[in-house]
Amino acid sequence: MTARISVKTGCCTHFIFVVVASGRSEMTSETKLLSLEEVSKHDSKTDCWLIISGKVYDITPFLDDHPGGDEVLVLATKKDATEDFEDVGHSQNARNMLTDYYVGDIDINTMPQKGQYKKPASSSGSGSKSGSGSSSNTMVMLVLPILMLVLAYGLYYFAKKDKVID
Ligand code: HEM
Repeated sequence: MTARISVKTGCCTHFIFVVVASGRSEMTSETKLLSLEEVSKHDSKTDCWLIISGKVYDITPFLDDHPGGDEVLVLATKKDATEDFEDVGHSQNARNMLTDYYVGDIDINTMPQKGQYKKPASSSGSGSKSGSGSSSNTMVMLVLPILMLVLAYGLYYFAKKDKVID
């Protein structure tokens, strides 16, 4: 980026052109934002891209060298593979290797959001049914012992009364 600075001296104005190295900011503006659809096209043993922690990696050159085999890597394409990657407990060395294969960031707006699943109307109905079922079970558990106590007392009372009459 070039900046122009004007300096006024007695008779005239001097323009100084300064080249400003914007380095980092220009580099970040070049970060590729990739959609899930775009990334999902690379889902084979000859072309394999993974989404891990919001970043996209073209790990095709590493497929044959992966200690866990190439099959697991291809299976982890077309989705957020962060969980698959973390579940294995990869070493720091494995994590550092990722940078070699970085191609861009995933556009999170193209990813299915977690917890977005809504129960279909019918199943939510049955859900509420099962809820009331469990609460009525609790009621039975509470009332049944009381009923048995009342019954036992009634039997005892009448048995005693019969004895007195005899
Ligand atoms: C998300 C997909 C991935 C899955 C499911 C996966 C699975 C595995 C499995 C099962 C192992 C253990 C192999 C064994 O001990 O027999 C392993 C090891 C390894 N993986 Fe992956 N992996 C994945 C992605 C990657 C990526 C992207 C890299 C690096 C670019 C990588 C690098 C390594 C390394 C270096 C090891 C050796 C052990 C270690 O240093 O952690 N893996 N992987």
